[in-house]
Amino acid sequence: MTEQLKFSMPTVFQLNKIEKVCFGKDAWTVNNLIGEFQNEFSQMFGEVADGTLVGYVCVRVMYEEAQICNIAVLPEYRRQGIATRLLAVVADFAATQGCERCELEVNTANTPTVELYKKCGYEIVGTRPNFYRRSKRFATRDAYTMVKKLT
Ligand SMILES: CC(C)(COP(=O)(O)OP(=O)(O)OC[C@H]1O[C@@H](n2cnc3c(N)ncnc32)[C@H](O)[C@@H]1OP(=O)(O)O)[C@@H](O)C(=O)NCCC(=O)NCCS
Repeated sequence: MTEQLKFSMPTVFQLNKIEKVCFGKDAWTVNNLIGEFQNEFSQMFGEVADGTLVGYVCVRVMYEEAQICNIAVLPEYRRQGIATRLLAVVADFAATQGCERCELEVNTANTPTVELYKKCGYEIVGTRPNFYRRSKRFATRDAYTMVKKLT
């Protein structure tokens, strides 16, 4: 089940667990996550299975654009369509907020995520060299900019 997440510390700790498992040393901290809940532009949607959060997506709605900041699914729940569902919910939400497009940056070496976005209707519109200050997970710090038009 996919739901819009509201702030609570148990939710923050579940998100932090997903972050640590999925991103290791690049994970968002508890404070980063609390900051997202406090950010008036930011919304998070989560997938609940077996009574706990198993995946989530964070999106910042900035006028005509929805910027996807993060998406992650616990390894044992992957390839079941959860991220696809989360992105569909984000696209619907962004459209209801009047956005014209969803946009994101993704590491050029993060093949699973690039393929996910392509499958969900996103196109590569550019490459940003050294976009990431650091990347412990990938050999490159370069990012693709990917866009999905909503209108
Ligand atoms: C990327 C991620 C969110 C995908 O989650 P998921 O729930 O497994 O994705 P889905 O099941 O919806 O997959 C949809 C499509 O994405 C592509 N895809 C997903 N994982 C893939 C992989 N390991 N290799 C190649 N393509 C992949 C496929 O096209 C897939 O469709 P298919 O299963 O019919 O072939 C997940 O792998 C993850 O959490 N990765 C680590 C975190 C991360 O790097 N996040 C992005 C940076 S913010």
